[in-house]
Amino acid sequence: MERKEFLNKISGGLAFTCVACMMAACSKDDNTGSGNNTGGGGNTGGGGTGSILLTINLTTQLLAVNDFVSDKGIIIVRKAAGNLVSSFAAFVNACPHQGVAVTFRKPSNDFYCSPQNGGHGSTFSITGAVTNSPATSGLSARTIEISGTTLTVK
Ligand code: FES
Repeated sequence: MERKEFLNKISGGLAFTCVACMMAACSKDDNTGSGNNTGGGGNTGGGGTGSILLTINLTTQLLAVNDFVSDKGIIIVRKAAGNLVSSFAAFVNACPHQGVAVTFRKPSNDFYCSPQNGGHGSTFSITGAVTNSPATSGLSARTIEISGTTLTVK
């Protein structure tokens, strides 16, 4: 009887220990997973590291010359055919004059700081250079990288 009782206590203790170990292991896995998820979020939105500002799928977006995407404070325009970095231009959309968001104008192939949005009429070429004041400096260019059919703006 004493031996059986002793074994029951030991096995119960082991079971408790194993459950505790498993919980600890699960807890560690959960923490690792969260860390990975956080890193992934940083890659997607740039919120964590701030490195990637925008991600474009070139199989569905920016298919034709002068197609553009304006998102997350960035404007990216296709300048030429092909999926080369030189086929695109990406800029921060903030006008260097007073920070109003510029828009891309397909018909004139330029960027415009519209008075309708609070701007003062500055225009910028597809290279981002000022073509009409009062802005005195060009748009802030961003780095473009292409991997397969995924374009990222940094
Ligand atoms: S804010 Fe763009 S021209 Fe003034």
